Amino acid sequence: MTALVLASTVQRAIGLVVAWIVIVGFGVYIFANIRKAKPELGHEVENAPNRKPYYSDEELEGPRLDRFLTMALVLLGVLALGLPLYWLAEPGRQETAIERFDVIFASRGETLFNTNCAGCHGRGAVGGVAPYVLQSKSGTFVSNVSWKAPALNNVLLRYTRDEVQYVLDHGRAFSPMQPWSTVGGGAMNTQQIQNLIDYLGSIVISKGDAEVQVREGLVARVTEELSVGVTDAAKRKEISDNVKKTFAETLSSTEALITLGVATSESSAQLKLGQLMFNNEAAAGSYSCARCHTPGWSYDRPGKTGAGAYGPNLWAAAQKFNDLDQLSNFLSYGCETGLVYGRQSQCKSGMMPAFGSMYTQEQLDAVTAYVAALDGEQQYVPNPQTPQEAQAQ
Ligand code: HEC
Ligand code: HEC
Repeated sequence: MTALVLASTVQRAIGLVVAWIVIVGFGVYIFANIRKAKPELGHEVENAPNRKPYYSDEELEGPRLDRFLTMALVLLGVLALGLPLYWLAEPGRQETAIERFDVIFASRGETLFNTNCAGCHGRGAVGGVAPYVLQSKSGTFVSNVSWKAPALNNVLLRYTRDEVQYVLDHGRAFSPMQPWSTVGGGAMNTQQIQNLIDYLGSIVISKGDAEVQVREGLVARVTEELSVGVTDAAKRKEISDNVKKTFAETLSSTEALITLGVATSESSAQLKLGQLMFNNEAAAGSYSCARCHTPGWSYDRPGKTGAGAYGPNLWAAAQKFNDLDQLSNFLSYGCETGLVYGRQSQCKSGMMPAFGSMYTQEQLDAVTAYVAALDGEQQYVPNPQTPQEAQAQ
């Protein structure tokens, strides 16, 4: 991109210099010509007898010649000025064409998205659910479930374009997300996959918007927890308003949790915040960790927290890092396929998302502390109000 801008500015600079040379030179030419012009001297040779008289000199060199000369001059002017001007406009024209292509690609991607993906990921990629048939290891029917299909209008906040392409190439094994490109046995060509990613890029939300959604997820969860057993509608509304207000008015979420009586101390509030973030349901779970690290979480039948699902078991994960800073860094940036992370772990798929562009520092610290405290004894306490969760308990 910088090379393009540089090239176009160099071209513009040269164009301007040439244009000025032409304009100034033209002025000098006219000036010199007018000064040089002298009245005609001498006489004309008479016509040869075999030649029929043509226009007289007076006629030939009169208005007729002037007319032709003027036209030639105008044309010369058009060429002399038009070419540099065209040349000047060219980089702009090319830039506009590229922008137009971006728009065209994104709109093709939107059409593809609406026909192929919106059914699960929602219109505008705001997240949705996917119907899925759970099977036992031997392939027999277990039950029908609704699997959270994460919001994708934030997917480029946590993944690079290449990583999104990886998902579209390979799908997510043992989930409703199938491979779409010809690489993984789907039907879409490279151009279509790129158009889809262009579309996701054109609708990506800001970090600020992501933070708002994350906080809404926290508020919803805390409200639910405080409302357990409360049946009176007015009372429930009061609780909900109070939680919303406290989170909006308090600078830090841990403080809000203490104010609301959900946690008693600074450290317990941090672990609580970590747990809430780990299981954040906002935007179809796209900000959570549990959807990849807790089996069954995505279809409301959570097993043990951090026992591993698409992502690995986390019960001793913190030990794979030198210290909490290194772990927090990993959560912030994710990992790159083939490279080493932590002490000596190798990144296999690159599918661990980067959370740094979606979480605040406080949230990142809280999740880090929560992961460090995770072990097989801890268990996520699901919302006892949904029948599936009651069944899972
Ligand atoms: C049948 C439902 C379904 C369809 C159709 C579908 N997806 Fe998915 N997709 C899912 C589910 C469910 C997940 C989450 C899988 C998991 O829990 O690991 C997912 C995950 C993803 C992810 C990874 C996001 C993340 O943050 O982990 C991307 C990217 C994605 N889908 C893109 C697409 C695109 C683009 C299309 C259309 C070409 C599409 N999906 C069509 C259900 C679907
Ligand atoms: C889209 C799925 C996904 C989500 C969401 C996700 N992870 Fe991961 N995570 C992975 C994968 C896959 C790996 C393995 C990295 C690799 O080899 O590519 C991983 C690795 C890790 C590791 C290193 C484990 C080890 O044994 O080396 C930690 C720690 C971790 N994740 C924590 C988290 C936390 C905390 C969150 C939420 C803030 C989170 N993950 C969200 C998929 C995910």
